[in-house]
Amino acid sequence: MKPKIYVTRKLPDVIISYLSNECEVRMWDKEDEPVPPEILAEEIEEVDGLLCLLTETIDERLLGKGRNLKVVSNMAVGYNNIDIQAAKSKGVQVTNTPGVLTETTADLTFGLLIATARRFEESINYVKEGKWKTWSPMGLTGQDIFGATLGIIGMGDIGEAVASRAKGFKMNVLYHNRKRKIAAEETLGAAYRELDDLLTESDFVVVLTPYTPQTHDLISYKELALMKPTSILINTSRGGIVNEEALYQALLEKKIYAAGLDVFEQEPVSLTHPLLQLPNVTALPHIGSASVTTRMKMAKLAAFNLLEALQHRTPPNLVVTV
Ligand code: DGY
Repeated sequence: MKPKIYVTRKLPDVIISYLSNECEVRMWDKEDEPVPPEILAEEIEEVDGLLCLLTETIDERLLGKGRNLKVVSNMAVGYNNIDIQAAKSKGVQVTNTPGVLTETTADLTFGLLIATARRFEESINYVKEGKWKTWSPMGLTGQDIFGATLGIIGMGDIGEAVASRAKGFKMNVLYHNRKRKIAAEETLGAAYRELDDLLTESDFVVVLTPYTPQTHDLISYKELALMKPTSILINTSRGGIVNEEALYQALLEKKIYAAGLDVFEQEPVSLTHPLLQLPNVTALPHIGSASVTTRMKMAKLAAFNLLEALQHRTPPNLVVTV
């Protein structure tokens, strides 16, 4: 008998056929709508494996309902949506999709940095709303990127990929990480700094650390107040790492120049969110890994991890081993 799996969002047909060769597949098939939690709670009761996205909260209560559940395969590198301890104690393996999205996410991070520094959103609106009447000596001026100091918080694969892009802009690269990365220091010329020193010295601070209880609100008012008034904060990791009220306050008080955010504490962010009312906030809808090729690779890898676990082999991207 084939194992039963549930897929929490409509994935490309080729991925579903690949899974269907080996499994009995049920799927929430609305393309742009997350599965309602009560439906997921029913579906999980019967399945051996779950392929989910970062939009699903896989907590202890839900895991407890999965009486046959052996594996949760998350189609994301971040897995803060899954209660890892609960999975471990229930003997459920958890996998993620690292590696395949590194360069795409670094591209977006660097793009957002440039867009925020050079005021793309205001400039685009200026053209489209018919406000462009003349060339203006100081109109829509922003901050330079070339030769500036970039501080990366969280020097994992994506951090290193951002640092290598920064080399092309002759930036001075600083980083803060739980562990020093001597190889990155040598190959990328990145210099290690304590967090406060990184914040004080950088023109751009890029948040790329994973979201854990230890990194919740890592960047709050005290940290933002250390930054230069001309500096820019970029977050392409998870919203909860930057305290949004503190960020709003710091932007209002001109403690920092601008922010570029691909992630928010609550997603989708509410249209009335105070940060969206500020002209110097460039906001994106969590699209770090959103290229056609990369999303296909993530879906394939998530499917592969799931099948490996169900076929009693070791999946390549285990974050919880049991
Ligand atoms: C991840 O993978 O964790 C991103 O946030 C979505 O690609």
